[in-house]
Amino acid sequence: MKINSTLSAPQLPEALSRAGLQFSVATEEDFEDIMAISQDIYGGLDYLPTRYSSWLQESNRTVILARKQGKVIALESVCLIDEGQTMLVEGLRVAPQERGKGVAGVLLRFCAELVKAKHPEVKVSRLTRDDQLGSKDFLKYRVITKQGILLVRFRSEDLKRRLSDLGGGEPRPESAPFPVRLDHAAVRRLFLTGDLMRGVLPNGTIIQDWQPFKPVPGNLDILMKKDIDWMVDDASKPSVGSLCTFPFRVPIGEDWYYLNIDMFGKDLDLVRQQFLSHLRRHTATLKGHVMCQMFLDPPLWKPMADFCRHALCVELVKEYTEQCVVESDLM
Ligand SMILES: CC(C)(COP(=O)(O)OP(=O)(O)OC[C@H]1O[C@@H](n2cnc3c(N)ncnc32)[C@H](O)[C@@H]1OP(=O)(O)O)[C@@H](O)C(=O)NCCC(=O)NCCS
Repeated sequence: MKINSTLSAPQLPEALSRAGLQFSVATEEDFEDIMAISQDIYGGLDYLPTRYSSWLQESNRTVILARKQGKVIALESVCLIDEGQTMLVEGLRVAPQERGKGVAGVLLRFCAELVKAKHPEVKVSRLTRDDQLGSKDFLKYRVITKQGILLVRFRSEDLKRRLSDLGGGEPRPESAPFPVRLDHAAVRRLFLTGDLMRGVLPNGTIIQDWQPFKPVPGNLDILMKKDIDWMVDDASKPSVGSLCTFPFRVPIGEDWYYLNIDMFGKDLDLVRQQFLSHLRRHTATLKGHVMCQMFLDPPLWKPMADFCRHALCVELVKEYTEQCVVESDLM
């Protein structure tokens, strides 16, 4: 979905045109202006600096900017997923001095109108929120699923030492096999055929970092382009599955990396086992500080937080928060 040039949408409701904003498709030249409005976002874990250039290349994505008197004040990205049936809203941000004036609402509606005009087949708008939803939001959205967010930080070298002290002898249920890393063919077989993963995925949704997907071929094509380790406990009868990114740099400081793990399933021992397996693999050659964010079934947050603190001796960055996947129909 590529939409070019400065954007005007004469069919927009009057309130939108009255907002005094100009909309355009983002380009490489806008990077610095976008970073300037993104300073405080996600406590330094903003993924946009690393993804911006590749986002601009993606054929199913458009990044839209809102300007006021020529100055960039907001950004939203829309990406067509679920075989073109759903628009995924990502990256939403408004310049700090412009927040609380309804700019996000105007931009969200602008993008929805744009997608509807270009792609009438799109039926649903989906997004992932990390803030507390209010009663007004529940009128707008249906909740698809929630995952707890466990955020820890450590020095890679310290964790490596701790993991070697544990000696690979972490508790493992008697009958549980070692976790299996899946190649792409195995991922497709497992996620696309039969209902094997349906019972494992939260409400049948593959959530990778902040992106929620239905398990359909086009979405797996999108996911396969990313550097991700896919893991299950048992490829013929999985109870727990996980996706782990390869560590990438985040702008918190020199040598800071972000490791993201999405964990699906409810068995604590198996979850712990896969978590350790990802940590071992991805910290083996890494030097520096790591922010590791794991999204997991909410009841597992507390026992996993205790495990991180007491067994791994890593620092908990924040208490329980949630990511919430919501949808609304495009009217
Ligand atoms: C969240 C943020 C974009 C809201 O911008 P804003 O212009 O101050 O938004 P407002 O408070 O005026 O709310 C306007 C609309 O945006 C919606 N909104 C607020 N936060 C939202 C969010 N995180 N995701 C989607 N919509 C959101 C509100 O529900 C409201 O919708 P409505 O007009 O249909 O009622 C802004 O505070 C920001 O840039 N925060 C830092 C980045 C961030 O947290 N982004 C969210 C990613 S999950």
